[in-house]
Amino acid sequence: MREHQSVMLNEVLDAVGGETNVRTVVDATLGLAGHSIEILKRHPEAFLYGFDQDAEAREIAAERLAPFAPRFEIIADNFRNIGLLKEIDGFRGADVVLFDLGVSNLQISEPERGFSFQYDGPLDMRMDAGDEESSHPKAEEVLRTAGVKELTEIFRDYGEERYAFQIAKGIVRHREHGGELHSTTELVELIRKILPAPVQRKMGGHPARKVFQALRIAVNDEMNALSEALDGAAALLNPAGKIIVISYHSLEDRMVKHRFRKWKEEELGEPNPRKALLPAEDEVEANYKSRSAKLRIFEKYEEDEKVEDEF
Ligand SMILES: C[S@@+](CC[C@H](N)C(=O)[O-])C[C@H]1O[C@@H](n2cnc3c(N)ncnc32)[C@H](O)[C@@H]1O
Repeated sequence: MREHQSVMLNEVLDAVGGETNVRTVVDATLGLAGHSIEILKRHPEAFLYGFDQDAEAREIAAERLAPFAPRFEIIADNFRNIGLLKEIDGFRGADVVLFDLGVSNLQISEPERGFSFQYDGPLDMRMDAGDEESSHPKAEEVLRTAGVKELTEIFRDYGEERYAFQIAKGIVRHREHGGELHSTTELVELIRKILPAPVQRKMGGHPARKVFQALRIAVNDEMNALSEALDGAAALLNPAGKIIVISYHSLEDRMVKHRFRKWKEEELGEPNPRKALLPAEDEVEANYKSRSAKLRIFEKYEEDEKVEDEF
């Protein structure tokens, strides 16, 4: 699916603000460039740096952004390294840094990427699978090598899965009996076998949903990457610059909320508005993916020195 309906686009554009003072935008999660294109359209003076660790996303984004050349640069890297932007020649500090976290429709709808419990595919889930040297283990490897404790922690901490221990134990027992897990379907079937039918009925939703989310987060080391990226982004901000984050699960949102609070205590700036924005009802109706979105904005105070003066 080469289409991706950008989530909370109007809210993002409002947050980016008026036409002036938006010179440098960093899209940390370029994806298919949906947000980036609209930002570049509205801000003719702006230059955009777009990060994505997914080679296919970068290729499509490059095609879609071509009409805006030379006003953008695509960076093939994990956004955890966003802080390295300041080493790029001519980088003048960021007026906006945008994060639209998680996977794109492109990734989730391609069975061979292994992100979806709805399609049969290999248990991969690496967002940078297209890179010759991916820095992540495949989901299959995690399921083959992690012990009960580690798997329980993954499913509990990253999936908030109530039956984390039972599922972890079931997977390890399956391995001990010579069972292997190579495909998404095999994992879904095993989870269905592990969990008693009444439990599955009580779960409300697909019984493998949280395990898949948890594995994806573990495989891509998503929480550590986000933590490093938030601090990296804050260090790039110009006075009055903004960090805009759209997250899709409570773990991410909690991390963003707490980090914004910490920066406020450090008098760097403040969350504005104070609370998270949610998508409008008609967006949720039109785009199922948006239902769990939360958007938070952090605004750096005006009076700080320009970021370029710090180097
Ligand atoms: C939800 S999509 C972004 C969609 C985009 N805003 C649009 O409107 O087309 C998230 C993208 O971020 C990328 N991504 C997620 N985590 C990343 C990370 N740690 N480093 C770099 N890219 C990442 C994914 O590969 C995916 O393409």
